[in-house]
Amino acid sequence: MNLEQVQELDSKYYMNTFGKRTPICFTEGKGICLKDTEGREYKDFFAGIAVNCLGYGHPRLVRELQEQVAMLTHISNVFYNENQARLAELLVTNSCLDRVFFANTGAEANEGAIKLVKKYFVEQGRPEKREIITLKNSFHGRTLATVAATGQEKYQKPYQPLLEKFVHVEVNNCEELKAAVNNNTAAIMVEFIQGESGVLPLQEEFVKTIQNICKEKEVLLVADEVQTGIGRTGKLFAYEWYGVEPDIVTLAKGLGGGVPIGAFLAKEKVAAAFVPGDHGTTFGGNPLATRAGLVVLDELLNNGVLTHADEMGVYFKKELEKLKDTNSGIELVRGKGLMLGVVFQEEIAPEIGAKLREKGYIAGVVGKKVLRLVPPLIITTEEIDGFVQALTTVLGK
Ligand SMILES: Cc1ncc(COP(=O)(O)O)c(C=O)c1O
Repeated sequence: MNLEQVQELDSKYYMNTFGKRTPICFTEGKGICLKDTEGREYKDFFAGIAVNCLGYGHPRLVRELQEQVAMLTHISNVFYNENQARLAELLVTNSCLDRVFFANTGAEANEGAIKLVKKYFVEQGRPEKREIITLKNSFHGRTLATVAATGQEKYQKPYQPLLEKFVHVEVNNCEELKAAVNNNTAAIMVEFIQGESGVLPLQEEFVKTIQNICKEKEVLLVADEVQTGIGRTGKLFAYEWYGVEPDIVTLAKGLGGGVPIGAFLAKEKVAAAFVPGDHGTTFGGNPLATRAGLVVLDELLNNGVLTHADEMGVYFKKELEKLKDTNSGIELVRGKGLMLGVVFQEEIAPEIGAKLREKGYIAGVVGKKVLRLVPPLIITTEEIDGFVQALTTVLGK
């Protein structure tokens, strides 16, 4: 099919949730390169929204997934599952958490984490402790609880009243955060770098304040690392940059290298609140998804991809900052590792994104002023140079 034919089918049969999509339909990929129905080629700095950490057609991932599909794709969580047990072990031994539950998406991972917070305080005999503080402009997912957690009115408006109560405070505002805490506060849930709202990192002082509140007021720290986790920021988990140990961490996106999988991890004392029957899933952690996770983690931890991502992140940011120093159109470059935001002085991000596409580059556009760059972690310096050159050209003077 060509693009027009796909568009026709889509507009007739698909629910109109994505509106007018970017007019490209990809058919295949290799490394960071994508091809579309019209035979055009692109270099991808978006990676399916920070998902395809090993790029496209990664030989080992392809081989192991093919092997796994032929062996066993899905069983059920009624039975034991070797890949699931091994992936859980890998995540635990490489994090500050003790136990894992696998889901299918980021929203589901967060939904599970929210249930665990509630159950933890029920088990403590303090069911009144059920308020969760999240941040304005955060994004935690599209299920009803995670929409309520998300600090953006536009996602909540059509579904009011929302059942779950979340208190939203301004990012990096320590005083507002302190004022929002009360005896019913159960958890503070944050992204260390807000992705959907334009790659906005939390300041160290703000994270210290969160840490102190959690310690002093018996409040759990929940890190939504759906986007920042699995090497995206140059470390396996973004919490490592801040020297904190969350009680719960949620993951998805990069974990399966493109195969849907989500997870939430918790400290033993918190995880112990879940007893048989409290939570479950049909698909979560199936042999195929967890095989993908095993390949991804092994590539990151034992085949140098994590170190490479860290180095490429430093290089990319430095090159973008050099461009900023010579081009007054860029206000600042922010983010960590391969999760970078280029903030423009003016509302030109959609236009820049379109011009980059014409030059064969895919970048994320957030609102009107930010480019979000979250390429595959296997990206090379030459590919980064190519992008910076293209951005330089489209920005002009
Ligand atoms: C920080 C964060 N949390 C949760 C989600 C939701 O993940 P999913 O779309 O897999 O449900 C996202 C998705 O963009 C995200 O960036």
